[in-house]
Amino acid sequence: MMKVSIKKCEKLRGTIKITGSKNSVLPILAISLLTKKKMTLTNVPMISDVYNMLHLLRHLGVKIKLNFDKNTVILKRKKIKNELLCDEVNKIRASYYLYPGLIHNNKESYSHFPGGCNFTDRPINYHLDIFRQTGVKIEIKDQIRFSKTKLKGANFEFSTPSVGATINAILHTVLIKGKSVIKNQPIEPEIKDVISCLNKMGANIKIEDNNIIIKGTRKLKKVKYEIMPDRIELGSYLLLASVIPSQITFTNTLDESIEYLRPYLNKLNINYIYNNNKILLDTSGKINGLNLEIMPYPSFPTDLQPILCAALLASSQESTIIDKVYPKRISHLHEMRKMEGNLKYSDGKIIIKPSVLKGTCVTAHDLRCGFGLILCACLGQGTTYINNFEVINRGYENIISKLKAIGVQINEV
Ligand code: EPZ
Repeated sequence: MMKVSIKKCEKLRGTIKITGSKNSVLPILAISLLTKKKMTLTNVPMISDVYNMLHLLRHLGVKIKLNFDKNTVILKRKKIKNELLCDEVNKIRASYYLYPGLIHNNKESYSHFPGGCNFTDRPINYHLDIFRQTGVKIEIKDQIRFSKTKLKGANFEFSTPSVGATINAILHTVLIKGKSVIKNQPIEPEIKDVISCLNKMGANIKIEDNNIIIKGTRKLKKVKYEIMPDRIELGSYLLLASVIPSQITFTNTLDESIEYLRPYLNKLNINYIYNNNKILLDTSGKINGLNLEIMPYPSFPTDLQPILCAALLASSQESTIIDKVYPKRISHLHEMRKMEGNLKYSDGKIIIKPSVLKGTCVTAHDLRCGFGLILCACLGQGTTYINNFEVINRGYENIISKLKAIGVQINEV
């Protein structure tokens, strides 16, 4: 179990290079099962979720070349196995993106259930329904068994917007003859990144308002594709720099990685300048309180909710947050209370009051809770120890060196 110590921070100065998006690279890696052609991906984040996904792809029969220093991965499919019964399947939730590849390449195939951050229950019923609606027979015992019949296109609509199910519906139907439509789905940037990679490979996918229209194609061409910047990594460091006097430059990012946050950042009194793939931040460390309801994109994202909770503890005003995507995403509250954070939770509403945080021992339950605790540790008097730090490495590349480079006194214990 990895443990780090972090001391209170007075100021932050320096540059942070933003890496590729975890939540779009994971499904884009899975596209390698759907083509015999070579895929060359750049701006790939070197994070443990990617390593786990690459392990699963190798297990299935994909030849992989990883260039760690260049953040590049080259993938080329060989014959694909019909089982995903290795342990790594339940290390990541994104292993469900491999199901379309399993199904399309085998008459019968088997998989363990996916894993993922356990901040709340994470059902996969929408995903299984996608396969059933196109003609796949599914049998569930201690594993999932897929039996492929003649696949046909379908129309999908999920009772709550679902990023993962939308992406899986695209991966599954892109090679199915005929038309499929995903209705009333907010088009999150990660969904758009998957669509633009597939269209660059010869797919025929169109976005019309909040509907996605897929016309099945026979095969996908080879591609060289750059993964979009990770807007959640950017938002995480930006919130950290908003509560400590900071002068930070973020590089390798895009305007759309932050523009959607502008209305919220304005309310928080966080001002930034964007020019030429760089974001310049110069903050006093003082933020306003905020009353926020979190919805699907383009709302403030649920993945930044734990980190925003931490930042709002430093405000002199009271705040409330209602996370409508994951109403029970509260694993961080108990840990932040250990640091004397004044956070209450009642019927779906998180109430955050001004707090003077004290260093102590806390545990990162998932990667976003973990980054929230890093923010609290930088505010907390004395030293804070964070256990289970490896969960943070799942989605933040080189986090210890990035934090050190801007002046955070962080050390592995
Ligand atoms: C993706 O998870 C992200 N993970 C999550 O990021 C992110 O929080 C989430 O989207 C919401 O934006 C990856 O992309 C790997 P959903 P996903 O399907 O696809 C319900 C992180 O920290 N639902 O959009 O699993 C679900 O319970 C992670 O990087 C079903 O009911 O989320 C939730 O209430 C955490 N049945 C809502 O839909 C299903 O079959 C939205 O979930 C699927 C989802």
